[in-house]
Parts: sequence; C-alpha cells; structure tokens
Amino acid sequence: MTSVAILGGTGQQGRALAQRLQHAGLRVTIGSRDPGRARAAVAAWIALAPAVEVADNAAAVAQADVTMLAVPFTFVDPLLEELRPHFKVGSLVVDLIVPVTFAGGKIAMVEVAEGSAAEHVRARLPASVRLDCDEFVCGDSDAARAEAVALVALLPGLRPVDVGALSRARSIEHLTALAIAINRRYKIHDARFRVVGLT
Ligand SMILES: NC(=O)c1ccc[n+]([C@@H]2O[C@H](COP(=O)([O-])OP(=O)(O)OC[C@H]3O[C@@H](n4cnc5c(N)ncnc54)[C@H](OP(=O)(O)O)[C@@H]3O)[C@@H](O)[C@H]2O)c1
Repeated sequence: MTSVAILGGTGQQGRALAQRLQHAGLRVTIGSRDPGRARAAVAAWIALAPAVEVADNAAAVAQADVTMLAVPFTFVDPLLEELRPHFKVGSLVVDLIVPVTFAGGKIAMVEVAEGSAAEHVRARLPASVRLDCDEFVCGDSDAARAEAVALVALLPGLRPVDVGALSRARSIEHLTALAIAINRRYKIHDARFRVVGLT
C-alpha cells in the first residue's frame, strides 16, 4: 500500500487531503513539528479517518513513498534543511505550496528567485526524490508526473491535468492566488478552475 506523509497535515489544506487519501485506501501519516499537539489539533476530524497516523516530520518522511508539502511558504526552507537527510531514496514529493502573504489583510504573491515555490523547493530537495504539484500536475520527470496524476485521480471530484514541466508551477501558483481573490470578493470558499475541451 502506498504510504503518504502530509507535512502540515494539521492545517486546512493538509487536513482535507489526509481525509480523502485515507478514504481512497492509502496509508496516511500527518507530519508535524509536535505530534502530541498535532494529535490534539486533529482529534475532532481524525475520528472521520481513523487510520490516519501522526508522527514528527522526520519520521513521517522517512517511511513515506510520497511526501506532500502543505506548510506555509515562509517556513519551508528551515523545514527542508532539517528533513533533507530523512527522505526515502526515490520517493515522490508533491508540492502544494503557494507563495502568498496576507499582510494587512491583502493577498500578495511572494517574489521567488527560482520563479515558483515548486522550483524553490526542488532546489532544496535531495536529488534522489522526484517533485510534482497540485491537481494541475507538473514536474520534470515523466514517471513522477504519471504517479502524481494517478494519486490525484484517486480523489473523488478531482481531475488531474498534466501540464508538463515543473516551470509551469509559476502559472499554477498565480492561479491559486486568483482563486483566493475570487473567494474573498464573492464571499465563497471553493473557487476552482476547470479546463474545457479536455475529454
Ligand atoms: N488552504 C488552502 O485552501 C490552500 C490552497 C492551495 C494551496 N495551499 C497551500 O498549502 C499550504 C498550507 O496551507 P494552510 O492554509 O493549510 O496552512 P496553515 O494552516 O497556516 O499551516 C499548515 C501547517 O504548517 C505547519 N507549520 C506552521 N508553521 C510552521 C513552521 N514554522 N515550520 C514548519 N511547519 C510549520 C503547521 O503544522 P504543525 O504545527 O503540526 O507542524 C500548520 O498546521 C500553504 O503553502 C498554502 O499556500 C493552501
């Protein structure tokens, strides 16, 4: 059974993924800086997905075939620096991070020297792991993209769209900022994009 670690799984984005992936039959571990605090934080919803496990970030990564990054962009550098030695050789990293700030209640994209958060993350991962991101799936390895597409396809209601090279993350991350702006303007919570013309 594929083992998935979700770093930041105590947050809004990670929690939704943890529940859905566990219901899809995967072994899911929430990675946290503090597993004790994480268990308390997820106690209310983990009852709905009872097989989800909780571990510290390093232990979660060490046993995972797939690691999903769902932490705020601001904190990803020290986290990856700490975790670099712990990734399983050949594992897949799925990056969900969008480099935005909400200072003063306004959403703004963070300027990332590498072009996108995904490329920033790639530069800080061991060479032995493969990177992909989001329902729009991008990555420089055909095999890694195919694996990520298969994972997304397990989730009811999500359709994976393979958009090619990792540098496409620049467009995807800007689209996510646009979705957040639409949510705010229309006072909704689930603005999404659909590609028409794909069969
Ligand atoms: N929320 C969404 O709808 C959405 C949509 C698309 C993309 N994203 C992206 O997904 C990521 C997570 O979003 P979110 O709203 O779920 O974030 P969040 O709730 O603010 O944070 C998620 C988790 O990150 C961990 N974390 C916080 N500070 C940390 C630090 N200094 N070092 C290491 N870990 C830290 C915490 O887990 P522990 O305390 O357990 O360690 C926290 O529960 C972001 O990059 C965001 O851009 C979010």
